Amino acid sequence: MWLLDGGDAFGNAHSISSLDDKLMGEYLLKGMGLCGYDAMTLGEEDFRFGETFLAEQIAEADFAFTSANVMRQADELPYATQFFTKTIGDTTVGVIGVLFEEDKEQVEAASAIDGVAVTIEPVLSAIATTQAAMGEVDLVVVLAHMPTTAALELAEELTDTHVVVAAHDQAGPTGQQVNNLVLVSTGYDGKWIGHLDLVVDPEGRLSKANWSSVDLDDSWADDPALAALYQDYLQRLETEAETIVQDIPQETPTGGSYVGSAQCISCHPDQATHWATTQHANAFATLVETNHDYSPSCFPCHTVGFGFIGGFLLPNMTPAMANVQCESCHGAGADHVALPALGFAPPAVTQCTKCHTPDNSPQFDMLTYLPQVQH
Ligand code: HEC
Ligand code: HEC
Ligand code: HEC
Ligand code: HEC
Repeated sequence: MWLLDGGDAFGNAHSISSLDDKLMGEYLLKGMGLCGYDAMTLGEEDFRFGETFLAEQIAEADFAFTSANVMRQADELPYATQFFTKTIGDTTVGVIGVLFEEDKEQVEAASAIDGVAVTIEPVLSAIATTQAAMGEVDLVVVLAHMPTTAALELAEELTDTHVVVAAHDQAGPTGQQVNNLVLVSTGYDGKWIGHLDLVVDPEGRLSKANWSSVDLDDSWADDPALAALYQDYLQRLETEAETIVQDIPQETPTGGSYVGSAQCISCHPDQATHWATTQHANAFATLVETNHDYSPSCFPCHTVGFGFIGGFLLPNMTPAMANVQCESCHGAGADHVALPALGFAPPAVTQCTKCHTPDNSPQFDMLTYLPQVQH
């Protein structure tokens, strides 16, 4: 078995905490080492924290980083391993990784911040040069860190290649035959693992490709070593919590600032009594039970006002702002508390799907969910 990854281990700029992403990235690469990964190619987000950080991770990793078109600016030599080969039995697989040319400026700018500056070379010529350098192998796999649409265009241009793996999109796994090769994409956030069985004829052409993806859902028991590593990561989050949350900017919300539901109860006792019976009032306990009470990535949906003035920071600093509260649906309440007669911006049903996203609440249905929380 060859275990390969298409890149982008360090989250993306849209996530809530870049320091958490950095820590998570470190642990993710350790976890991939434990899983026995063979090689990973570089995505544009792998340069997100500068080249020095990436270089440290590459030095620590138990597997190869390979890229054919990420070059050091200074001497135009490959930044990572130019290609990767591994032989099992009498089959040698050659892996060529490439990074999307359209991310050239982003990667060059990120790598210029600190450490070694890199440049992105054109994909097709980099693959040709690398294939020549690699010589004869039984199977050629191109790890294409780019949108699947771009990988499809690339696949149509390639000869002497058996598999193209597209990685980058926030979309579920896909697979298709393109001329004589198979193009698969891997999904995102580690939710699936792709599985590819290939038969190659004596002329070295792909004669059969069976593609499937395995849904890594709750039916799989955690591997004990990986579970321990994950607990270690959660512990690091707790130890470094103050630094991590202080790095997250606090915006000023519409409505002044967040004040917490204790401020609402005296004037709206009936709504408060009903709210206390809902799961929303208990949402932080869910984090405590799973040891995530210091995980900033959970706070936007399991607390109130995280990332805004007056909102939740950490359980030991702002315990009153834990849980999904009145202001999670109605908006920040300071202005309303100061002048109740002005009323409140109309709630609230438009807020549900900010938290009840397809990823986090796949069963969400307004018709059945709304009556359970209406007061
Ligand atoms: C000092 C009493 C007081 C406090 C404290 C208070 N409210 Fe109100 N609230 C009122 C009054 C009075 C109204 C009715 C205003 C109107 O429509 O004339 C009201 C109306 C509302 C409405 C309906 C608005 C509409 O236009 O239909 C919502 C929602 C609401 N409050 C939520 C809250 C929340 C959430 C808090 C805590 C952050 C809160 N209130 C705190 C007195 C209060
Ligand atoms: C700030 C984020 C947030 C908003 C906004 C929000 N929810 Fe939730 N909701 C949650 C979380 C988190 C849970 C899970 C709580 C737990 O058990 O830990 C939840 C749970 C629920 C549940 C219980 C589901 C179950 O499996 O028992 C219902 C019903 C629900 N929400 C309905 C709504 C509706 C309807 C709205 C909009 C009017 C809404 N929620 C708005 C975060 C939110
Ligand atoms: C984008 C919003 C969002 C984020 C971020 C989020 N959650 Fe949730 N979570 C929800 C919602 C909404 C529900 C309720 C789902 C439902 O019942 O439909 C939920 C439910 C849960 C449940 C099941 C609760 C139960 O007993 O039914 C657990 C466990 C949970 N979340 C843990 C976490 C952890 C741990 C994190 C951070 C790593 C996290 N969540 C981040 C929105 C979110
Ligand atoms: C899960 C989202 C959610 C939470 C949490 C929530 N509300 Fe509401 N609230 C609603 C919705 C939905 C309505 C219905 C009005 C609408 O949709 O415009 C509403 C209506 C209200 C109204 C208007 C009068 C009424 O009952 O229709 C008041 C006052 C109010 N909420 C106060 C509160 C207070 C106080 C809390 C906290 C103790 C709270 N709400 C928590 C969603 C929520």
